[in-house]
Amino acid sequence: MVVSFRFNHQFLTSFLITITIATLKSVHTTTTTNTEFVKSSCTFTTYPRLCFASLSTQATLIQTSPKLMAHAALNITLASAKSTSAMMVRLSSNVQLKPREVSAMRDCVEELGDTLEELRKSIGEMGQLSGSNYEVYINDIQTWVSAALTDENTCTDGFEGDDMNGKVKVFVRGRILVVAQLTSNALALINHFASIHG
Ligand SMILES: *[C@@H]1O[C@H](CO)[C@@H](O)[C@H](O)[C@H]1NC(C)=O
Repeated sequence: MVVSFRFNHQFLTSFLITITIATLKSVHTTTTTNTEFVKSSCTFTTYPRLCFASLSTQATLIQTSPKLMAHAALNITLASAKSTSAMMVRLSSNVQLKPREVSAMRDCVEELGDTLEELRKSIGEMGQLSGSNYEVYINDIQTWVSAALTDENTCTDGFEGDDMNGKVKVFVRGRILVVAQLTSNALALINHFASIHG
């Protein structure tokens, strides 16, 4: 009786350990698969390193879905555009800026406002994409995200010219550049999703 209990106990323990290891291995494999998916999807973008850096943390959510990948890319782009816009609003009230710089900053905030609107609309339709509205919605999204990219470039153009403060110019252009690269990546991922969806 005692021997048999001991045998069962040992058997149960090793059985549980085996199960635990198998589960951990499978969780690990899934995580690796998801991360690999993000990495390979990023090869469709113009800025793959920025793509991976910004989206690898979302791998668990994205799993291996091209649609969720595009959706997550839009989410990240919106968050970045929002914080950049807020930063520009704060900067535009800086008393040390020249009138020319303040005006470029205000124009830029307005263009970023359009960008935010276009990204929000795109995210809204991305979340509601279905078989029946697919054609119309994917078209809307491609149009809006392209428009967002144009607005961002218009903003940067406002900071051209030698009469602008060098530091302000470099700082603003650097921030907008990141938003524009994230937008370009999101558009590439949307186009990729559309191309395999047919
Ligand atoms: C995108 O953001 C929305 C709203 O915050 C969230 O509900 C959704 O899960 C996000 N989707 C992805 C794929 O990141």
